[in-house]
Amino acid sequence: MKRVSLIIPTYNEAENIETLIKEIDGVVNKSFVDFEYIIVDDNSPDGTGSIAEKLKETYPVRVIHRSGKLGLGSAVIEGFNLSTYEYIGVMDGDLSHDPIILNDMVGELENCDIVIGSRFNKDSLVENWKWWRRVVSVVGVFLAKMISGVGDPLSGYFMLKRSVIDEVELETKGYKILFEILVKGKWSTIKELPFTFRMRRHSVSKLNMSEYILFAKQIALYAIYKYQSFFRYFVIGSTAFILDMGSLYVLKEYFDIHPAFAVALNQIFVLSYIFILNKIWTFSSKEKTRHSLIRFVSLQMFNYSFGILWMWIFYEQVGINYLIARIANIILFTAWNFLLYKKWVFKKN
Ligand code: GDD
Ligand code: MN
Repeated sequence: MKRVSLIIPTYNEAENIETLIKEIDGVVNKSFVDFEYIIVDDNSPDGTGSIAEKLKETYPVRVIHRSGKLGLGSAVIEGFNLSTYEYIGVMDGDLSHDPIILNDMVGELENCDIVIGSRFNKDSLVENWKWWRRVVSVVGVFLAKMISGVGDPLSGYFMLKRSVIDEVELETKGYKILFEILVKGKWSTIKELPFTFRMRRHSVSKLNMSEYILFAKQIALYAIYKYQSFFRYFVIGSTAFILDMGSLYVLKEYFDIHPAFAVALNQIFVLSYIFILNKIWTFSSKEKTRHSLIRFVSLQMFNYSFGILWMWIFYEQVGINYLIARIANIILFTAWNFLLYKKWVFKKN
């Protein structure tokens, strides 16, 4: 038996909420899932809150009443805080999310961390959207996709294991709560299930201009968050280069040390600098230092030999200018080292 807290944020869904709960109750496979509904209502003027209260008599419903319209994202977060079950789902209260895929979503969670109801899979259908809404949606999704690596990272319909968001600070007030979870949450596998996004039957969308501005901010913020470690790695690489040149110069000019010995000396210094700062600052790795060190040294040794082979191939065999060949090699190493540092040398733990 899988226990699922289904969070439904509502603002003016008086005409929809009961239909929705009935519909869900009609499709869930009760021999396999146990749903509780957490309705988070922001004191809807149309009385959604009291309808939700009445639903408690018939269904396993819990209701959070908030003082006023405080935003979709924060409503979802309050729902997270109230839920105790191992699986948590989020769904719109306006009937636009077809509940028919709920059983499959729960089923998929046995093999992955997050399941997303996706509007953009090839089998998904989006009924009847106005053209400008399509454009805005496509552009937003494109940007968010680049950052999160997921097909529909802005969907409001998803389910996850509670471990994904345990101890994760979520703060989105706006619409893109899933996007924030994708960027900050602890997950490794995702499944997207196509579904039909139905036009809301009653009332109107509350996605307005300020939500779009909030979203633009979010994209910028998460891009920085996501690329933060690459940025730090890059800062360390550039300063290491300056240290390398500077120490070489000092050793040769002021101490009169032969450049070959000078390199032997300064490499120890420069590599220690790269190792320590990347470990502590870029990747804040909790891996044992000696493990990281062995991997780091092996990687440098591999790169060393690879650099020789590379030069031999491109300069000797292909006939490319040696400086260009070296620059290409360095660019390759920059990307390659970053990936290996992250996944192997300085693993999180
Ligand atoms: N409690 C609360 N507070 N609920 C809210 C608020 C709020 O401030 N704003 C909206 N809701 C509720 C609505 O009542 C509805 O149940 C759900 O959140 C989604 O709001 P809609 O206004 O219907 O959103 P939408 O249809 O424009 O947007 C949908 O698609 C987006 C992607 O294009 C949603 O699924 C979004 O989550 C999704 O990002
Ligand atoms: Mn809607």
